[in-house]
Amino acid sequence: MVKKNASIFISGKGTNLKNILNKSIDYTFPIRVKLIVCSSRYAKGLVFAKQRSIPIFIIQNNLISQMKLINEINKRNISIICLAGFMKILSKSFIRALNLRILNIHPSLLPKYKGLNTYERIKKNKEKKTGCTVHFVNEKLDSGKIILRKYFYISPNDDFKVLKYNTQKLEYLAYPEAIYKLFRYN
Ligand code: GRF
Repeated sequence: MVKKNASIFISGKGTNLKNILNKSIDYTFPIRVKLIVCSSRYAKGLVFAKQRSIPIFIIQNNLISQMKLINEINKRNISIICLAGFMKILSKSFIRALNLRILNIHPSLLPKYKGLNTYERIKKNKEKKTGCTVHFVNEKLDSGKIILRKYFYISPNDDFKVLKYNTQKLEYLAYPEAIYKLFRYN
């Protein structure tokens, strides 16, 4: 199969990035990661890019940096962007200029709990069920078309850490599955 070139955007630990990189070794996995974009040069997750010698682009808060990034993406023939814990909101102009499929993973069952501090809010509301969602990115926060969701049941004793652990365990299944799903027919 001919793999598509992808770029992964991160800001923190990069455990989803690591997981996708591991999956992409498989020849049936539809993408290969050609560029890592990060909002901080100190992000822990950059270590996974360095281990595999994948080029890194540190995005800054200005138009010139954004234009340079568009150039880097086009140069590498990137056809899909996966946000994985990327803590910046992409500008409308950036999304429009690229005109690519952009995916995101969110630690709740969207459309519930868009935005930040999801685990705290889920716990506070005594939800019985939660999970993660992979969705397309559009110009509104956490509101693009849903590709897939995975859920688990919360037990009353589950604290914040357990919620996060169980959610992320599902994320490592959900993101690769969503990517497979997207490329199944094209
Ligand atoms: C994930 O839980 C994802 O849902 C959220 O940010 C977290 C990133 O974790 N958007 P990591 O950097 O992949 O470890």
